[in-house]
Amino acid sequence: MMKRKFFLKTFGCQMNVNDSEKMAGILASAGYEKTDNLEEADVVIVNTCSVRAKPDNKAYSFIGELKRLKKQKPELVVAVTGCVPQRDWKFILKRYSHVDVVLGTFNFYKILDFLESPSKPSVEILDTFLENEGEIIPSIEPLLTNPFVAYITVQRGCNRFCTYCIVPYVRGRERSVPPENIIDEVRRLAEKGVKEVHLLGQNVDFYNYGGVKLPDLLYMVSQISGIERVRFTTSHPSGFDISIIKAIKEIPKVCEYVHLPPQSGSNKILERMSRGYTREEYIEKVMMLKDEVPGVALSGDFIVGFPGETVEDFEQTLSLVETCIFDQAFVFEYSPRPLTKAFSFKDDVSKKEKNRRLMELNDLLRKQAEEKNRLLLGSIQEVLVEGLSPSSSEKMIGRTRNNKIVIIDRNDSLEGKLINVKIEEITPFYMRGKVIKQLAGVER
Ligand code: SAH
Ligand code: SF4
Ligand code: F3S
Repeated sequence: MMKRKFFLKTFGCQMNVNDSEKMAGILASAGYEKTDNLEEADVVIVNTCSVRAKPDNKAYSFIGELKRLKKQKPELVVAVTGCVPQRDWKFILKRYSHVDVVLGTFNFYKILDFLESPSKPSVEILDTFLENEGEIIPSIEPLLTNPFVAYITVQRGCNRFCTYCIVPYVRGRERSVPPENIIDEVRRLAEKGVKEVHLLGQNVDFYNYGGVKLPDLLYMVSQISGIERVRFTTSHPSGFDISIIKAIKEIPKVCEYVHLPPQSGSNKILERMSRGYTREEYIEKVMMLKDEVPGVALSGDFIVGFPGETVEDFEQTLSLVETCIFDQAFVFEYSPRPLTKAFSFKDDVSKKEKNRRLMELNDLLRKQAEEKNRLLLGSIQEVLVEGLSPSSSEKMIGRTRNNKIVIIDRNDSLEGKLINVKIEEITPFYMRGKVIKQLAGVER
C-alpha cells in the first residue's frame, strides 16, 4: 500500500517549529511520509501563530487556499493546530467548512488520533487557564528539520502578561518540564547525531522545576556526550541575572549568544507594556553580560508604535540601541491583539509613522550588525556546518558560536562537523569564510 503523505506548514516561533517537528515525528512513526509538495498530500496540517495580525492573517489565507485543494480531492484531511485555533476555533469551524481537525496548543500531540477519527470535524481545545494541562505532553521523538541542530521545549506558557501580548492567553500558564525528561530527550537526540541544542521557553530564565533552575539545566545538558553546543532562548530582562551570565562564562559548551528583548528604551512605554524593568536596569544587565563574557553576541526584539509612543519615546529606544549595540534584532510594528490589555488602549501611532520608526530603527540595527561582523574579519571562528546553502548547491552554511551565519565552499564531508573558518567577507546578515582545519574533536 502507498504511504499516506502529509504536508506541514508552520508559522510562528521556534516553539511552534518544535511542536511541528513533534507532530511530524508522530506521523512518521505511524507510517506517514512527509512531503514538500502540497498537491500530493493526503493530509495538510497548518500550525499557526497569533502573536501579531500578520502571521494570523497569513495562516487564515493559507487555510482559505486549501479549500480549492479539498474540492479536487475530497478525501484530503485538513488540520489546523496551534495558537490561532486556541483562541478562535469556533470561528474556524464556522468559516472554513473544509477544515476537518482542530487542535489547540495543549493537545497537538494527539494529532494522529484526530486525523484518523471517523467523526469530522474533530476538535479539542483545552482551557488555557488550567494550571496543569500540558505537563502531560508525552515524550515524543521529533522529525528534525536539521539533523544536527535540535530545539528542546523546556518550558511552556507564560505568566507575565505584557499588555500587548497574546501568548499567555494562547499558551496558558508557565510550566517547566522536569529535568529528567529534558536530559532523556537530549540524550536520545545526541545518539541520533545532534550536535547543538536550543533550550526553549517563552521566558527561559525563569525555568524552575523543583528548585532546578536554568543554570543547573545548562550544566546538566552540557554533560551529555555528543552534544557540542548549548543555547537557550528567550531570555527576559527581569529574569536574566548573574547566575545565567556565569553559566555562559563557565560552561564551555554554552554559546556566547543571548536573545534579550528590550521591546522599548523608554521607561514610560516599558511601564505601559508592563515589562517589569527600566531602561537603566536593562542597560546594566547588558553591560554586566559584556564585561563578564567578552565577545558575546546580543540579540533583541523591539516593538515600535506602541500606544502613546511619542517621537521622544522612540528616540529613547534609539539611544538604548546606541548604548547596548546589537548583533541581531527583530523590529515589529505594534499590532493590537484581542484579549490583551493594550487592546483597549488607543492605537494612536499612524501606520505610516510606525513604518517610519521601523525603518529608522532597522537602519541603525543593520549598521550595528555590520560593524559587529566587521570586527570578525580575518578572525578564526568555530563553525558548526549545518548543510547545503538554500541558495546555492556549491555552498554550505553553518553558524558561529555567536549565532552568525557563515558560508563556505561545499564539501559534503564537513556536514555536521565543528570546523575552523577564517572570515574573509562580511555583510550585516552573514559572513563568508575559508575552512582552515577540521577540529579533531573539540579541545576543551
Ligand atoms: N517571550 C518572548 C517572546 C514573545 S513573542 C519575550 O518575552 O520576549 C516574540 C516577539 O513578538 C516579542 O518579543 C515582541 O517583540 C513581539 N510582539 C509580541 N506581541 C506583539 C504585538 N502585539 N505587536 C507587535 N509585536 C509583538
Ligand atoms: Fe509575551 Fe511578555 Fe510573556 Fe514574552 S514575557 S511571552 S512578551 S507576555
Ligand atoms: Fe506565535 Fe504562539 Fe509562538 S502566538 S510566537 S506561535 S507562542
